[in-house]
Amino acid sequence: MNKTLEQICDVVKKCGEIMRNADRSHLEIDDKAGHANFVTEYDRKIEEILRKELLEILPDAGFIGEEGEQASFSDKGKFFIVDPIDGTTNFIKDYKQSCISVALIEDGQGKYAVIYNPYGDELFTAEAGAGAFCNGRPIRVSKQPLENGIILFGTAPYYEELNEKSFRMAYEYFRKGLDIRRSGSAALDLCAIAAGRAELYFELRLYPWDYAAGALIVKEAGGCVTTVEGGEITYDGPCSVLARNRD
Ligand code: IPD
Ligand code: CA
Ligand code: CA
Repeated sequence: MNKTLEQICDVVKKCGEIMRNADRSHLEIDDKAGHANFVTEYDRKIEEILRKELLEILPDAGFIGEEGEQASFSDKGKFFIVDPIDGTTNFIKDYKQSCISVALIEDGQGKYAVIYNPYGDELFTAEAGAGAFCNGRPIRVSKQPLENGIILFGTAPYYEELNEKSFRMAYEYFRKGLDIRRSGSAALDLCAIAAGRAELYFELRLYPWDYAAGALIVKEAGGCVTTVEGGEITYDGPCSVLARNRD
């Protein structure tokens, strides 16, 4: 594995241990804008560690994280895009489907990706042009057609105006495939597509920290990631995401 990617993995795994061993007896939880949108002391603490230690690895990179002050994105240069806890509601509920997601974007393209689920001890990694891995073993998307497929969807929970469309689309895909799942972590949904555990994932609005790492992992596993309309996903603001095992 590339030295820089290895160093990123070490930092992410250390943060995963902090998440897994969190003292849940009196979690500090604050509300954010939108329906059921929360931040905990652990989201903030983990983002601070990621900011400090990732920038020690690449001091000339920008840093964009969900919970802190953000650099403004440009398609020139290097940027870390970080979600300290993807699946915060799951984390609060001790549902054990949350992860840390870190991408390095270089000149507007994904270069490295690391997603760690500390509960299942699964470390997903990718490097542009060098494939995708889970705990060091290569992963590939499924070869199954949609009719034999599991469909994952995210409810875009913080945007009530998207509720109806999300559930209508989920119903349409439900009729086309085997069944539907909703995990509560967009990053882990993308890893599930990459690992061939499900065939299609969609969500109507996500931010780059939700999908930057997962999108590279899916592409490096042979899958395809676009907006729901079929356009390119962006790193400078929110968009919809559709990930599939095939074009
Ligand atoms: C959320 C999760 C969830 C998805 C939301 C995301 P957060 O991220 O990925 O699965 O449906 O759209 O915002 O808020 O837990 O980091
Ligand atoms: Ca997220
Ligand atoms: Ca988050």
